[in-house]
Amino acid sequence: MDSTNSALLYETERGVDAVDDVQRVLLSEEEIARKVKQLGAAITEDYQGKDLVLVGILKGAIIFLADLMREIKTPVNVDFMAVSSYAEGTTSSGVVRILKDLDLSIENRHILIVEDIVDTGLTLEYLVDILRSRHPASIGVAALLDKPDRRLVDIIPDYLGFSIPDEFVVGYGLDFAEQYRSLPYVGILKPDAYQDA
Ligand code: IMP
Repeated sequence: MDSTNSALLYETERGVDAVDDVQRVLLSEEEIARKVKQLGAAITEDYQGKDLVLVGILKGAIIFLADLMREIKTPVNVDFMAVSSYAEGTTSSGVVRILKDLDLSIENRHILIVEDIVDTGLTLEYLVDILRSRHPASIGVAALLDKPDRRLVDIIPDYLGFSIPDEFVVGYGLDFAEQYRSLPYVGILKPDAYQDA
């Protein structure tokens, strides 16, 4: 088998495995693309002529960020932060350790944090506090998904893709145990997929 065929076979097998673990597609590729386009248009309008830095939160936001930045039709800079939240039971504690900090200075610049999902909101609240102490011109939040039922702090994304029910979702950058990030849609995992892990 030549290398093209083996690559295709590998992709197909991975795809089938991942699809088998998904109970239901919650948001299709097309729905997400439409929404990201709308968010990009709104951000373009609001940040026209401003020095905008998108801050992607690794790793979950990578696909959302990559698609969103191409829908923003005004110049942007991009930087990344990686954080790990100290868990207490199944929810985050709100104490966040910075694993990778920004490379760019954000003083007097307009910051838009790009997150995959806001759950309790504790991680985001902590991040906003850290970044605010560096004196940006403004701080906004763009989140693809929001689980309002789980919120513990009063934080609302300025740009939101979808409010979703309290279910564990994967795909389009979101993972469970580092799996499923490459699914092109957002899906709800089958309970078996949690139990096997
Ligand atoms: P929070 O501090 O509780 O808001 O945690 C937000 C983080 O938890 C997100 O950035 C995700 O990494 C993770 N998370 C929360 N819900 C989900 C989910 O349904 N699927 C995948 N990751 C999730």
